[in-house]
Amino acid sequence: MNPVIDTILNHRSIRSFTNQPISKEQLGTIISAGIAASSSSLLQVNSIIRVTDIDKRKALVELSGGQPYVEGAAEFLVFCIDFQRHHEMNPEVKAEYTELTLIGAVDAGIMAQNCLLAAESMNLGGVYIGGLRTHAQEVDDLLELPDYTAVLFGMCLGHPAQTPQKKPRLSPEVIVHENTYQQLNKNKVHEYDDIMSTYYATRTSNQKQSSWSEQITGKLSQESRPHIKEYLNNKGLAIK
Ligand SMILES: Cc1cc2nc3c(=O)[nH]c(=O)nc-3n(C[C@H](O)[C@H](O)[C@H](O)COP(=O)(O)O)c2cc1C
Repeated sequence: MNPVIDTILNHRSIRSFTNQPISKEQLGTIISAGIAASSSSLLQVNSIIRVTDIDKRKALVELSGGQPYVEGAAEFLVFCIDFQRHHEMNPEVKAEYTELTLIGAVDAGIMAQNCLLAAESMNLGGVYIGGLRTHAQEVDDLLELPDYTAVLFGMCLGHPAQTPQKKPRLSPEVIVHENTYQQLNKNKVHEYDDIMSTYYATRTSNQKQSSWSEQITGKLSQESRPHIKEYLNNKGLAIK
C-alpha cells in the first residue's frame, strides 16, 4: 500500500461539516487536481461553478431535494458540461451530438473524483450531489448557465464533523469479467445483501431494515428524472 491507495480505499461520503473554512491554498490544490485529470481529446469540456453566495446555497438546498449539507459545507462546487467556450471560439462547433454529451459527463466525473481525492488526501471530506438534476432547469437558471452548458452534479467539501463507517461494495467477482461478459453469480449478490443488511441495521445514523437488492429494485423501478432529456436538448446538447 501507499498513501494514495490508502486515501482511495478509505473513502466515505461526508455529509456533516465543521464551520472551519477550506484554506485558499487547499481549494487551489483541489481545483488544480481536478483540472489535471485526463480529458477526452484534450477537449476540456467542463466548468466548475464555485457557489459562495449564501442565498444561492440556500436555494440549492431546496433544488437538490432538501439536502442541508449543500449549505453547511465549506465549499460547494457545481460540475457542468461546457461546450459554450468552444462554441464561442468557433460558432461552427457542433455540440449537439450525444457522443459529446457523454464525453462531457465522463470527463466531469473524472475531474470531480480527482478533486474529491485531493480533498480527502488533506483530511477533508465531501459528497457528490446528483440531486441537483432533480430541478436541473431551475439550477441552470440560478447559475445563469448559457447554451451548450448544462449542470451535471454538485460536490460539498469541508472539514468532516462525522466519521461514518465505510459502505461495503460488490465484490470484484461480480464487477470484473474476463474476456467476455459472464453470467451474474447470484450467490455473490446474496452474500453482499447480507453484508449490506447488517451495515444498514447497525450503522451509526439512518439505520434501516433493507438489503442492497431491495434498495436498488426500489430505485430502479421508478422513473428516473425523465425531464433530463428535454433539459439537455433545450441546452443544445444530446440532440443527435
Ligand atoms: C454522481 C453521484 C451523485 C450523488 N448524489 C448524491 C446526492 O445527491 N446526495 C447524497 O447524499 N449523496 C449522493 N451521492 C453519494 C452516494 O450516495 C454515495 O457515494 C454512495 O451511497 C456510497 O457511499 P460512500 O460514498 O460513503 O461510499 C452521489 C454519488 C455520486 C457518485
